[in-house]
Amino acid sequence: MRTTGQSPLLEPYHGPALRLPNRAAMAPMTRSRADDATGVPTAIMTRYYAQRAAAGLIVSEGIWPHRLGKGGPGVPGLTDPAQVEGWRRITRAVHAAGGRIFAQLWHVGRVCHPDLLGGEEPVAPSAIAVSHGFIHTAAGPKEYVRPRAMSASEIGQAIEAHAAAARNAVDAGFDGVEINGAYGYLLAQFLSDSANVRTDAHADRVRFAVEVVEAVAAAIGADRTALRISPDNRLLDIVETDPARRYHRLVDTLDGMGLAYLHVVQSGEYPALADLRPRWRGTLVGSYDGPEPGGREQAERVLRTGLADVYAFGRLFLANPDLPQRIAADAALNAPRETGIYGGGAEGYVDYPSLAAG
Ligand SMILES: Cc1cc2nc3c(=O)[nH]c(=O)nc-3n(C[C@H](O)[C@H](O)[C@H](O)COP(=O)(O)O)c2cc1C
Repeated sequence: MRTTGQSPLLEPYHGPALRLPNRAAMAPMTRSRADDATGVPTAIMTRYYAQRAAAGLIVSEGIWPHRLGKGGPGVPGLTDPAQVEGWRRITRAVHAAGGRIFAQLWHVGRVCHPDLLGGEEPVAPSAIAVSHGFIHTAAGPKEYVRPRAMSASEIGQAIEAHAAAARNAVDAGFDGVEINGAYGYLLAQFLSDSANVRTDAHADRVRFAVEVVEAVAAAIGADRTALRISPDNRLLDIVETDPARRYHRLVDTLDGMGLAYLHVVQSGEYPALADLRPRWRGTLVGSYDGPEPGGREQAERVLRTGLADVYAFGRLFLANPDLPQRIAADAALNAPRETGIYGGGAEGYVDYPSLAAG
């Protein structure tokens, strides 16, 4: 049963480094509609994001900060002027519609294939492949390949690439940058026991994530820098022994830097939100990942109990461009459809009706 009064999702949020008109954020979602050859965002993406400008904050789909970080066909980049120009059209449209948008920087590391990298080998902390499952390429699904272990200088280049992409993001008009440290991609590979068996300085599994955050914060300001993590997530062969200890160290190192926010995806058995909230003095964005889309009641409970300051909805924002208005009106929600999730055109992308459209 719903409590009476306004939903906490609709209350404004005034954090140390973030001011939002409501607490219903849109979680980052890859939709694979950029031009595949160039990584430049396409016109339809402008429509999609502008439709969702009522979100307290939009976090963009994952964007590659380095050519070796591309996660699939149609995934956009932020490495050259044409990509920056494409994103500028999107940020302008979102701002014109009254919204705010952060760019998610997403380097996939070993979760990749030479087909996506012009024939080059994927890179990772260690030369250990994802052992099962398939990666989606333009030629269909392919098995993962063994990545090349990054040299110390390549690690430095990857860190600098995040900083450069963050500068590009600001140049493109984004309000800030969320670094993707979640779900088994490059930062999470460095954080894990299974993908990082290095014996050099980066045997310290927390180090790369901290270095990337520090470099991005130095490039664009800590108040425009955010990090997303998904402690104890086991997708993509990730094993984290003792996630509490590892993430305490990460969070304690970053707390006090004055970041825009920390985004915690609750997705494993370790109660990440409950355990990390007391250690984080800044803004905390929460998400839940499970088989069913995170729902309104769960989000309201998270806000009411103080587990997070802002809740990020993925699939519900995919299917409901006007989610905050629907919450305000207590209106029924569109259910996400199977078609058009990754790639394609308008169908399943910009054709979800808003209330105003009936
Ligand atoms: C189509 C789709 C694409 C996604 N792409 C990303 C991504 O690029 N980066 C990321 O951090 N999470 C990504 N996610 C995860 C979501 O941000 C979110 O954590 C997850 O969907 C759980 O939230 P929900 O139950 O509200 O959908 C994606 C999820 C979906 C459904």
